[in-house]
Amino acid sequence: MKDTHKRLVFLVMLFLFLGYSSFLYTVQPFPDPPANTAAENGKMVWQNYNCSSCHQIFGLGGYLGPDLTDEYTLRSEAVINSFLISGTSIMPNFHLSEQERSDLIEYLKTVDATGSADPKTFKIYTDGTIEQ
Ligand code: HEC
Repeated sequence: MKDTHKRLVFLVMLFLFLGYSSFLYTVQPFPDPPANTAAENGKMVWQNYNCSSCHQIFGLGGYLGPDLTDEYTLRSEAVINSFLISGTSIMPNFHLSEQERSDLIEYLKTVDATGSADPKTFKIYTDGTIEQ
């Protein structure tokens, strides 16, 4: 192959590489979901008070308290609120502000909307995958 042909092939490939790379890095395949600041603040409250030391989300976390992934549909907002306001003999009362409680509830609502998690009902296959 002549040198000019090699240069031509190189330039075409370079052009295609740069074009495809810039396409990949500029096109967003999925639009960002609308911002939900209350839920984001609620997640921060969840982390600040280390709720996951006793509770799980999708089965991950401590095991003193129940999994709260589906808490929003299993219980009403009022029940969640009352747990947060008064605590129990095992769960401490964190003296959360009204804003913190409503943000937490919004966070639990968005977690609940992502799916359901009741690991006891999951089918576990030998290759480690699960079916809900
Ligand atoms: C020290 C462990 C502990 C921590 C930390 C904790 N919890 Fe709990 N929580 C529990 C236990 C245990 C229960 C079950 C009620 C009981 O048996 O007293 C519970 C119950 C709940 C319930 C009601 C669940 C149900 O349907 O029965 C909610 C909602 C809840 N916790 C939310 C939270 C949130 C939000 C935080 C963080 C701000 C938190 N918990 C931090 C231990 C904890």
